[in-house]
Amino acid sequence: MEFSHLLNRKEFGSISNLGNVMSIEEALELLNSWVKNEKLVFHMKQVGHLMRAYAAAKMYDTETQYLWYLAGLLHDADWDQWPDEHCRKIIEELEARNQDPRLMKAIASHGPSYFGVEPESEMDKMLYAFDELSGFVHAYSLMRPQGYEEMEVKGVKKRLKDKGFAAQVSREDIADASERAEIPVEDLIQFVIDNQLRQV
Ligand SMILES: [Fe+2]
Ligand SMILES: [Fe+2]
Repeated sequence: MEFSHLLNRKEFGSISNLGNVMSIEEALELLNSWVKNEKLVFHMKQVGHLMRAYAAAKMYDTETQYLWYLAGLLHDADWDQWPDEHCRKIIEELEARNQDPRLMKAIASHGPSYFGVEPESEMDKMLYAFDELSGFVHAYSLMRPQGYEEMEVKGVKKRLKDKGFAAQVSREDIADASERAEIPVEDLIQFVIDNQLRQV
């Protein structure tokens, strides 16, 4: 039997915990104890940063911005030590900590083809959209002598067409996420270039 990451559930957390979010200190402590891979921590910080920047650009209130940030910051927290249990493990942990159900729902839907959970809210869709794209643009920055400087959308698009480059990044997921978010992939790439966290 082939291994499956399917979550096989649709409900996450409890509605009575709406608005309940851990502090940044608690979130970083969780990452510190669960994730030994520095690159993975940086990836989650990058996605969290993009999520908050996007919510801020949409003029959402600071609570909403923070919720979006946390979703990005924690979405792969279990990947390092429990890849077979990704993302069930982090969802159950957040449920045990009585976190806002929107947080777990967004994390549960950050890869619909793997976890079998549809991104529905705007936060769900943007986490899915930024996840792979953030990693891809970062990989591109690492191969450019000038890093992020003068990076252009067309350069990123060219690399997307080059199947050998960052081959682990699913082009299908990037296209699917852009479609679901109803944001052209070019606009998403531009947003990532402009807002990506560049330093650890
Ligand atoms: Fe993931
Ligand atoms: Fe990720």
